[in-house]
Amino acid sequence: MTNELKGKVNYTTKGNIAILEVDNPPVNPLSSGVRAGLTEYISKANEDDSIEGIILTGAGRSFIAGADISEFGQKPDGPDLHTALREIEFSKKPVLAAINGTALGGGLETALVCNYRMGTNKAIVGLPEVNLGLLPGAGGTQRLPRLIGPSQALKMMLSGTPISAKKALQQGVIDAISENSLIDDAIMFLQEKIGQSEHPKVRDKNEKLIEARGADNVLAEARALASKTRRGQFAPGQIIACVEAAINEDDFDVGMKKESEYFLECLINPQREAMIHIFFGERAASKISDIPKETPLHPIQKAGVVGSGTMGGGIAMNFANSGIPVLVLDQDEKNLERGMGVIDKNYQMMVERGRMTQEQKDIVMGLISPTLSYEDLADVDIVVEAVYENLELKQEIFRSLDEATNENAILASNTSGLDIDAIASVTNRPEKVVGTHFFSPANIMRLLEVVRGQDSSDETMATVMSIGKRMKKASVVSLNAPGFIGNRMLYGYTYQANMLLLEGALPNQIDNALESFGMSMGPFRMMDLVGLDLGWRARKLGNIETPLTNKIADALCEQDRFGQKNSKGFYNYSEGSRAPNPAPENEDIYKEISDNNNIARREISDQEIIDRCILALVNEGAQILEEGVAQRSGDMDIVYINGYGFPIWRGGPMFYANQQGLDKVIEKMNNFSKLDEEFWKPAPLLQKLADESSVFGEAPTQNERATKLSFKKTNIGGV
Ligand code: 3HC
Repeated sequence: MTNELKGKVNYTTKGNIAILEVDNPPVNPLSSGVRAGLTEYISKANEDDSIEGIILTGAGRSFIAGADISEFGQKPDGPDLHTALREIEFSKKPVLAAINGTALGGGLETALVCNYRMGTNKAIVGLPEVNLGLLPGAGGTQRLPRLIGPSQALKMMLSGTPISAKKALQQGVIDAISENSLIDDAIMFLQEKIGQSEHPKVRDKNEKLIEARGADNVLAEARALASKTRRGQFAPGQIIACVEAAINEDDFDVGMKKESEYFLECLINPQREAMIHIFFGERAASKISDIPKETPLHPIQKAGVVGSGTMGGGIAMNFANSGIPVLVLDQDEKNLERGMGVIDKNYQMMVERGRMTQEQKDIVMGLISPTLSYEDLADVDIVVEAVYENLELKQEIFRSLDEATNENAILASNTSGLDIDAIASVTNRPEKVVGTHFFSPANIMRLLEVVRGQDSSDETMATVMSIGKRMKKASVVSLNAPGFIGNRMLYGYTYQANMLLLEGALPNQIDNALESFGMSMGPFRMMDLVGLDLGWRARKLGNIETPLTNKIADALCEQDRFGQKNSKGFYNYSEGSRAPNPAPENEDIYKEISDNNNIARREISDQEIIDRCILALVNEGAQILEEGVAQRSGDMDIVYINGYGFPIWRGGPMFYANQQGLDKVIEKMNNFSKLDEEFWKPAPLLQKLADESSVFGEAPTQNERATKLSFKKTNIGGV
């Protein structure tokens, strides 16, 4: 084996059995050295007369995590995957896949060319390629439908969600589960098969496909699922086309040829690059550039949450779902009871929808305990405060927490924009204070902004990032600056949406344009959902003059139009429905406010709507990067995709800008500057990168930075 190849396969024998162990830490992807090793050692085992059966397994925690994702878009070294898999499929001696851990993508496809499959009870199998803008291109679209039927196979490939060993056994993906030593059980299984004259090959199993021939519902259901859950994505249609070929083509190899063609089309589609950027971006975001990997973590065995409202309840569920016992504190008994009731109801709904069993619900509910007393928090390792946004209140709670908890406990605030340093300053442990900005509903939304205060220690930061991983969140670090990353970028986006409304576009047009770009919900539908009255009431209470961009929303509130909550806002809603219907009765209000502010209403194109809203995100993102508030541009992409409904297949706003070309971005912004010179001034970093024909990447270092960060200096207006 040459040294440049990545990863290897270990070859050992046990009696008449050859054991091939994929060894490419940490998760054993099918890199060049693995493909070469598989090809070489299957052939070696076949040539060795003393060998009668072959076991294929993985070293460490993974069987095979799929193709090596870093190779896509590069010229791969070594043999290709199809050559290696053909070698296995046409082995003269029976091959058993002993699935010791995760078998994903090309990993499961490798198992599917083996004659037999056995997993440990911890094994999980799946075809998640769709999450990378790809389809299972190593025979998965042709073999899985043969094994478990096209309907189940399509569900697995379109969701990308892996299944447990137990479910895999029920569905027929694997033949057996090992309860003891996997390799010993695998040897025993294989010894029983060795005398047989023939060994099953998945490619020969046609019954389930023939059954599905002519039954349109299988493909129609798959198309409906794809359009509901993967709007705008290219790969799902390709997956369905592959399965259609599997169903209708008699010759397995014709189906395989189609799969290769459709795979190639995915590979060259820009969505693939965008989605792989997000795969690696999420992993990069979980790392903090100046904190060593070996930083010791504070052990987290017990947690506390202060506040039993929607956020507090959702955060408590996150702890419980990760197996961490959690105390929920509220000083109001009624609130606490209501909050615990909501948690119970949320879990009950999951049971009813088949997302968890009653037994699982009992376990997680058993981990959540209510309390009215700070004294009960004495032995927790971390507390997340989740009360409403008021600095004085939060400071008061942090004083109490500082007194009540042991001195090593981490104190986190779930603030969406308050100054973490001001909160930390009232404690005797500012190094243990950090912001954890969860997004609502906290038990569902994946984004977690981890806010680093000026004194937050390395241990505190590393510990909170590792809890984020345990909670399966997409965690992103933000420095302590107003609006952090997400809400600060959102400000310019909603500002432009409101200006477009004043200049002549209607909410429906603006929302439709942005939804056709791929945003999960347009800004006016979002504002209606959140409630228009929140800002209006706050301004009235504080005697604050309404900014130009809020004038329309405030005028709607004056007419009792608060949004979805009372069935009328920018849209009208029928009783019990969340579907927005245009509200022509609002148009006179829009016209009047435009006139009163000397804004001429005009026809506005969908493209202008998209450009103005999205480039507003990009320009603010450039400023955030320049200030070092985000560590890298990819972090902002992760924020926008996981917290604000930006389409994953466009790779996030900063990646989108890179793909457009930063010079083109500047050109468009210069055109818009006639409308608002101040707003459309390019951030210095954007201008610099465009001049250098470069792209967004890592944040500049302290020395390279033009702007020095200060919580007070950075002004983002009224978020
Ligand atoms: N290729 C290359 N690198 C991979 C990889 C892969 N398939 N899977 C994971 N890695 C890398 C990660 O980037 C990470 O690198 P880093 O330490 O430098 O950041 C490292 O391995 C560990 O990964 P995670 O942090 O994600 O480890 P976890 O234990 O949390 O998760 C996992 C393990 C469930 C295997 C997860 O990594 C995963 O989902 N991997 C991707 C699986 C996948 O999508 N496979 C399909 C690939 S496409 C394919 O197979 C095409 C085929 O059909 C032809």
